Amino acid sequence: MVKSNEVVKANEHFASQRVEGVVCVFAGATNGIGARTLERSVSLFQSATFYILGRSSARFERDQRPVLDSLKTPGCRIVFIETEVSLIAAVDAASSQIAAAESKVDYLFMSMGTGVPFGGAEYTSEGLEVCFALSYYSRARLLSNLLPLLRQAPNPRVLCVLNGGREKLIDETDLGLEKPGAWSVRGAIKHNTVLMSIALDRFAADEGNSHITFLHNFPGLVRTDNPRKKNPTGLLGLLLRFVNKFIVTFAQFLVGMSSKEAGERQAYHLTSNTYGPGSWRISLKGDVVPDNAALKHYREAGWMDKFWEFTVRTWDRALAQSSGGVSK
Ligand SMILES: NC(=O)c1ccc[n+]([C@@H]2O[C@H](COP(=O)([O-])OP(=O)(O)OC[C@H]3O[C@@H](n4cnc5c(N)ncnc54)[C@H](OP(=O)(O)O)[C@@H]3O)[C@@H](O)[C@H]2O)c1
Repeated sequence: MVKSNEVVKANEHFASQRVEGVVCVFAGATNGIGARTLERSVSLFQSATFYILGRSSARFERDQRPVLDSLKTPGCRIVFIETEVSLIAAVDAASSQIAAAESKVDYLFMSMGTGVPFGGAEYTSEGLEVCFALSYYSRARLLSNLLPLLRQAPNPRVLCVLNGGREKLIDETDLGLEKPGAWSVRGAIKHNTVLMSIALDRFAADEGNSHITFLHNFPGLVRTDNPRKKNPTGLLGLLLRFVNKFIVTFAQFLVGMSSKEAGERQAYHLTSNTYGPGSWRISLKGDVVPDNAALKHYREAGWMDKFWEFTVRTWDRALAQSSGGVSK
């Protein structure tokens, strides 16, 4: 376990090294853990560039005043790319914008997520289920797109905040839970967790990425405003929303970590030299989680490639739908 005061000390030490000129890409940092990580990370570097991929710069400016104040650090350059990161086409457009402006990316941080969709599965305009899109498909796409730029950085690092270390066996015959009645919140979490970890392992296994550090972190219960997301209609929906908000908020109050501490910890994961190149799963308290049986299973018998082929097929289908080629 890495204690909170050790995390703070390590971050202060990193900041004292006055690392200059890094390029960071943050997706899912307009709220919650991501926003606090962004706020803390800005002060760790000198003359850094931060790309923030988010839905609304106006809302970000309105709701995240302390983060904005931190972004005023002298020399720090902020580029807000207003985009809907659940869409593959939008991720591609944002990636192209970054690639046109930068020759390298040092840090990629991804923390986008959504509250529990009580009314059942919801779909993006590209036909992807929203939890899958935010937790996996768009993250893997952003990472894949930015890989050439990450390869150009001296010590590149990718940090994915989701559910690392909690991989379980999944339905191998229905990776996207697309069969009728197959989708559930628990199922979506399980599938996204495994798909993400295995994708990071696959990236790390590529010789061209041998100097990149890939981290998949489980942040634990963190006091964010995550349950705010859903706006179910009808009386039952409103009731479920109230119950969810009450239960989650109460649980977060009892055992949750503050979003400030979570941000401090994620900034540590981004910069600490505890982790070297390769693919690692990190627990809420900062320990490396050893491979479990599910991960070992999916590293064998060609699953890594099968998962990846499925991912690429899903992207293609989404892009075909976004350009009007296919209907759901
Ligand atoms: N908080 C916890 O206790 C906890 C526990 C375990 C795992 N996690 C995981 O950690 C990650 C971060 O959680 P969090 O609590 O910080 O979440 P959060 O407060 O809800 O923030 C999530 C981020 O994702 C963005 N986002 C949400 N829906 C989106 C959509 N449809 N399209 C584009 N962007 C969208 C949000 O943007 P807006 O500002 O536009 O809303 C925000 O920047 C999530 O993947 C979550 O599943 C969290």
